[in-house]
Amino acid sequence: MNIILLGPPGAGKGTQAQRLTSRRSMVQLSTGDMLREAVKAASPVGLRAKAIMEAGELVPDEVVDELIGNRLDQPERYSGSGFIFDGYPRTEAQAKSLDRLLGDRGMKLDYVVEIEVDEEALVDRITGRFTCAKCGAGYHDRYKLPKVPELCDVCGSDQFKRRPDDNEQTVRTRLAEYRAKTAPILPYYEAKGLVRRVDGMAPMDEVGASIEAILDS
Ligand code: AP5
Repeated sequence: MNIILLGPPGAGKGTQAQRLTSRRSMVQLSTGDMLREAVKAASPVGLRAKAIMEAGELVPDEVVDELIGNRLDQPERYSGSGFIFDGYPRTEAQAKSLDRLLGDRGMKLDYVVEIEVDEEALVDRITGRFTCAKCGAGYHDRYKLPKVPELCDVCGSDQFKRRPDDNEQTVRTRLAEYRAKTAPILPYYEAKGLVRRVDGMAPMDEVGASIEAILDS
């Protein structure tokens, strides 16, 4: 089963993708994570993307299409329980590219899950977010602290980090980009009958249960 998690920055796409990964052995394909790895490695893609990401704008379509295509071409890395597209596609051109990338490989999309949220909550969610520097597990200053203070629940590391684009000004640009370029792709998927919606303002486990109910339907 292959699904897209769609929603504005801070909606909980990464949180729910990680949950599905551990509960169902699905594979998270996050273009944001891939781009951050490229920035860290100072690769040509990373050098191109760094300033764009820090400004909260969208990286060119062809860059992310290629990242996704490359991952789909490495089936030996994946368990075969399906892909979760997290943060991709983000434009209508990317949506069409994804159809082509999947179709060329004999795959298809099963659901597009829109995580609906109250925009006012998002700045608070994003500016409070931090992750384990070693394994990438996600936390929040108020909504999800490590069970043992300052130690990652998953790997026990005491090293955490925050993203450079998780500041209020950049979040507002990211939200504007979402409204202008990403939300308009919903009708494309509605016409295909793939869209399902969950209440992203519910507690994380409830959101997760709603998504799993869709996958089991
Ligand atoms: P990306 O990394 O994709 O960021 P984003 O879409 O802005 O999404 P976030 O990661 O900020 O939010 P999320 O929905 O995953 O929320 P999370 O689960 O962490 O993209 C970054 C940049 O890369 C873009 O701006 C762009 O420049 C570039 N880029 C990436 N993909 C691209 C593409 N396809 N095309 C072009 N450019 C691209 O949750 C947030 C916080 O809230 C966490 O702390 C979490 O603990 C908490 N939380 C989650 N759920 C709940 C809940 N139900 N209740 C309370 N708290 C919650």
